[in-house]
Amino acid sequence: MSINIAIDGPAGAGKSTIAKKLAAKLGFVYVDTGAMYRAMAYHFLQKNIKPEEEEKISLECKNVNITITYENGEQQVILNDTNVTPFIRKEEVGNMASATSIYPKVREKLVELQKELAKTTNVIMDGRDIGTCVLPDAQVKIYLTASVEARSKRRYDELCKKGISCDIEEIKKDITERDYRDMHREMSPLKQAGDAVLVDSSELNIEEVVAVIEKIYKEKCSL
Ligand code: DC
Repeated sequence: MSINIAIDGPAGAGKSTIAKKLAAKLGFVYVDTGAMYRAMAYHFLQKNIKPEEEEKISLECKNVNITITYENGEQQVILNDTNVTPFIRKEEVGNMASATSIYPKVREKLVELQKELAKTTNVIMDGRDIGTCVLPDAQVKIYLTASVEARSKRRYDELCKKGISCDIEEIKKDITERDYRDMHREMSPLKQAGDAVLVDSSELNIEEVVAVIEKIYKEKCSL
């Protein structure tokens, strides 16, 4: 039987950075489910579909095929034969992903693929509904969060490092809105699973968070 580690939490809590590092350390496969919602969102944006057009989005889901491959251990998201991994990191795509992930047809399409990936492989999967919906039987469940201030500051520093000018108040507003949407949608909202361990990374650096989660994994799996 495969071992599954589920990491859920709000945007900017550091889930993907932590999950990637931990996966490399433990020899697990890292599955970034947010990237799948982003790839779907990228497709809708390319088709000029608006986030509120549920009917169009639901119909368009039939024309979307998402697959996951790995190149040098890095997840690649393939959208209808095109590798869209380099194109899905923009704020615009993240916001569209948050807005369109509320629709049942979008979620149905991706949850099935995510469950399949975890069936036979040791995975660390991160997202919003992994511990509550995608992998309810995961041996380890983490709810990774941080204050809005800490998450905004990290995003601000990241963009500044890339030479992209930005306003920290705008980032804060964006993060707060995304949190609200992800936590208040009807289907699979972001929430801490009853059996998940809460990890607050506001005052911790990356290595410290990795160490905390590795310890929880070892305890849960009696290693
Ligand atoms: O983790 P991220 O920022 O790449 O995710 C983008 C959006 O996708 C997020 O705001 C909500 C949605 N999402 C989701 O609904 N369920 C998941 N398991 C992962 C992401």
